[in-house]
Amino acid sequence: MQESISSLAAEVAAADVSSAAALDQFRLLYLGRKGRLADLFDQLKTVPNEQKRAVGQQLNGLKHQAQARFDEAQAALEEATANQPADAGFDYTLPTVPNALGTRHPLMLVREQMLRIFARIGFAVAEGPEIEDDWHNFTALNFPENHPARDMQDTFFVEPAPGAEVAQPHLLRTHTSTVQVRVMENEPLPIRRVMPGRVYRNEAISARAHMLFHQIEGLYIDENVSFADLKQTIYYFVREMFGEDINIRFRPSYFPFTEPSAEIDITCLICKGAGCNICKGSGWVEIGGSGMVDPNVLENCGIDSEKYTGYAWGMGIERITMLKYQIKDLRLFTENDVRFLRQFEAL
Ligand code: DAH
Repeated sequence: MQESISSLAAEVAAADVSSAAALDQFRLLYLGRKGRLADLFDQLKTVPNEQKRAVGQQLNGLKHQAQARFDEAQAALEEATANQPADAGFDYTLPTVPNALGTRHPLMLVREQMLRIFARIGFAVAEGPEIEDDWHNFTALNFPENHPARDMQDTFFVEPAPGAEVAQPHLLRTHTSTVQVRVMENEPLPIRRVMPGRVYRNEAISARAHMLFHQIEGLYIDENVSFADLKQTIYYFVREMFGEDINIRFRPSYFPFTEPSAEIDITCLICKGAGCNICKGSGWVEIGGSGMVDPNVLENCGIDSEKYTGYAWGMGIERITMLKYQIKDLRLFTENDVRFLRQFEAL
């Protein structure tokens, strides 16, 4: 009997009481009514009378020891739970969820690339407003009074504020040629400028047309500027942008603000000139319009057309971007689909 008591005492002293579950187990096993201590108390009646007192004392001692161990462990456990911070169990060493960075828009990347090429040959950037008046968008640029481009079909006109007196219609500019006029009106000669910006046209949105797009306008005004200078500027740009093996051709055309005028075509980048459905079998694609600034336009802007000549051009940034990256639908530029946009991250 005494042996059982001392081995149980050793067990009680060594038992695991470190968690709520272990402590519960301890209580059932040693202190409960059907526990090991209760067993030993039951066996007390088999102990010879003369030993009962001593054994009983020993058993009581063990009972107190077990109860004390339990009380102590329970108090410690309660204190530990009370002191736990609200975010206990949160592992601060785990890596964070990656914070997705945005990427630059392909149109802005190409815009910058184009401007950098022109900057290398002396063209500095100028900008103008997107809401323009009839003078800067049409009249100063030599558009005849009844020119179809002035039609409500193509142009978004802007309603004047109620009660406002406006001398002329206002509109969302339909091209960046407006900035040419502002630059010629305001800047000293010679002028060598590139003018990027958004333009608007009243068009149904499709793979090939949009009501909002971007252009880069160019303008050079000085004495003795010739068409040959225009050609060299465009050659330089195309070779820098698309590579040495691309051919360029100037196709006679008409714009009210240039005379002579030419559209600029380059070798189709998709089929390399062999003919495909993008270039409609011709092997050429158009990248913009150009020409010698019409003397009427120079005079409208206060420049002596006897002394000065100049050239100008306008290119669509969407068009250049689509050719460079073989993008077949304009709508991709404005849909904000990250699967499309992320492809330009590293360019
Ligand atoms: N403004 C014309 C357009 O939007 C493009 C253009 C053609 C600009 C000839 C020019 C130019 O400066 O000389 O279609």
